[in-house]
Amino acid sequence: MQNLSDKSLASRSRAVQLDSFGGTEVLNLREVPVPQAGMGQLRVRVTAAGLNPMDWFMTSDAETAARFGLSLPTGFGTDYAGVVDQIADGVTEFAVGDRVYGGAFSRAVADFIIVETAGTIVQGGTVHHTPDSIDDRTAATLTIAGCTAAAALAIINPRPGDTVLIGGAAGGVGVFAVQLARLAGARVIGTGSTASSDFLRSLGAEPVAYGDGLAGRVRSLAPGGVTAAVDLHGTETAQAARELGVADARITTIAAQIDGITPANGADAAPADLEKIARLVATNELRVPVAASFPVEQIRAAVELQAGRHVKGKVVIDL
Ligand SMILES: NC(=O)c1ccc[n+]([C@@H]2O[C@H](COP(=O)([O-])OP(=O)(O)OC[C@H]3O[C@@H](n4cnc5c(N)ncnc54)[C@H](OP(=O)(O)O)[C@@H]3O)[C@@H](O)[C@H]2O)c1
Repeated sequence: MQNLSDKSLASRSRAVQLDSFGGTEVLNLREVPVPQAGMGQLRVRVTAAGLNPMDWFMTSDAETAARFGLSLPTGFGTDYAGVVDQIADGVTEFAVGDRVYGGAFSRAVADFIIVETAGTIVQGGTVHHTPDSIDDRTAATLTIAGCTAAAALAIINPRPGDTVLIGGAAGGVGVFAVQLARLAGARVIGTGSTASSDFLRSLGAEPVAYGDGLAGRVRSLAPGGVTAAVDLHGTETAQAARELGVADARITTIAAQIDGITPANGADAAPADLEKIARLVATNELRVPVAASFPVEQIRAAVELQAGRHVKGKVVIDL
């Protein structure tokens, strides 16, 4: 067993915990015992945790929580970044002091978490080395949104010559999906509010307003046609794509089920996808806008901001 420093041996550790399911009022920052790594595990001193809508969606009521396998008391948040501060026997790929990021299902907003080198996000957690040029706030945004965007694009397979319509393009998953589709050589049209137009342009997308008449507006922008679509918000973009003649096989959704359309799930991303995204971020070929960061004491305000559903990019908690 190796520990980083006397500081990490301190008994003080905080975690966001829930004793009941509900809105932001059930999120409490608590003093908890410092967890200890067991065989094949390592402990991370978390410095940043990225929020995703699923964090608060799956803890919003008991029925939804049960569908995700959560029981009380539970932690909160999944995406994290930090520094390895303890490794147990059986861990060879990581050393104390390594900067890491990954996903730890509904327990990432905590000073310390235990993860497994051979785990999954849901079982044991995942851990990857953070490239030197990526800061912890950015690293804490990569796992869920990056994998989900990669899984969605794997279904539609964008390439040069494609015009891809992306619905909800300015959100946490959208910022990855737009840039990955552009890097694949596609033209990208992204839906957003008028307030998001400049932001979408800065990512490489041509903005179009969501809402009634979407197909007509897209037709005016792309008279030559749209060839693929990703709906990151609901069903409107997928329906508009069908109206525009896009084949079902080249449409995917991440936030709704539509008969005949293959949904994308971040858990289906290839293991190499996340490392590829991290490399692109490290080389500044892909950037992750962090709309806001909050100290962990303000977890409720951070979740309220994201739950408003008009965030451009990601929201991060500092620990
Ligand atoms: N299947 C999976 O594996 C998976 C993984 C991650 C997320 N998800 C789900 O996918 C969805 C998107 O996730 P996210 O992290 O990108 O969420 P997010 O960051 O909260 O998305 C915010 C974005 O949604 C846009 N938006 C708001 N109302 C809209 C509307 N009516 N039509 C189109 N866009 C609208 C906003 O644009 P404006 O500000 O311009 O209004 C904002 O940029 C969520 O429902 C999430 O739960 C699924």
